[in-house]
Amino acid sequence: MTYTIAITGKGGTGKTAIAAMLIRHLVESEVGVVLAVDADPDANLADVLGVRVERTVGDMRELMLESVNDLPPDINKESMFQAKIYEVIEEFKGYDLLVMGRPDGPGCYCYVNNLLRGIMDKVMRNYDVVVIDTAAGLEHLSRRLIRNIDVLLVITDASRRGIRTAERIRELASSLNLNVKKLYLVLNKVRDESRTELEKVARELSLEVVGSVPYDEHIAMLDLLDEPVGSMENGSAALEQVREIAKRLLATKAT
Ligand SMILES: Nc1ncnc2c1ncn2[C@@H]1O[C@H](COP(=O)(O)OP(=O)(O)O)[C@@H](O)[C@H]1O
Ligand SMILES: [Mg+2]
Repeated sequence: MTYTIAITGKGGTGKTAIAAMLIRHLVESEVGVVLAVDADPDANLADVLGVRVERTVGDMRELMLESVNDLPPDINKESMFQAKIYEVIEEFKGYDLLVMGRPDGPGCYCYVNNLLRGIMDKVMRNYDVVVIDTAAGLEHLSRRLIRNIDVLLVITDASRRGIRTAERIRELASSLNLNVKKLYLVLNKVRDESRTELEKVARELSLEVVGSVPYDEHIAMLDLLDEPVGSMENGSAALEQVREIAKRLLATKAT
């Protein structure tokens, strides 16, 4: 069974950095076949992982939209489009990466999005773990291109706006009727001074905290040097905490 982890939260809270560290941990601990999905329209997971991706699902969706009416009626459009999506998946050392890319433009995407939904389900079923980096708006999730999320990790920093966005995401996830089995809060860029207070706020809001990732100078420095966070040295305090979170998630998965 595929285990799907989606990461969301306010912009700048560290979703992509945490996604990259999580992917790194999953690859190193050989949990199975890993798919990383960049579902943020402002895609930069590849950069943070230190790899390059040329094409996106969004590009393919445009092609599908342009060609769908010209295809002969007897052709199986689903399998044709599925092959197109497989072309977009890039293979890297230990994991595959799929970038969703731009959201729908003007036009009628219902038909192609319906096809895509089924295709995405099938693609994801080939993997043991899927990690999805999303935006706070839950763009691709709300269009149901990606369904069946086992864990939604909502990232917040020690800011009121980060916490408010987390609350909004919780409401959005339930009002959109997304199939999210579990929602956890991850505290990121936490400094010792604010940890207790932040945990208290989360408790008051009944947001279950699955882990607390410290502010880490290594990450800040890599960012400044334009080096991928995913390539950080072992022993980084943030990476160690992300490893702990991954272990907790995988332990609950097993039960
Ligand atoms: N634990 C951390 N310690 C220090 N800097 C961090 C940490 N997590 C993220 N950052 C930095 O915060 C900034 C925003 O992170 P990013 O992952 O791009 O956020 P998001 O994807 O939520 O917009 C980046 O400069 C990143 O390097
Ligand atoms: Mg991001």
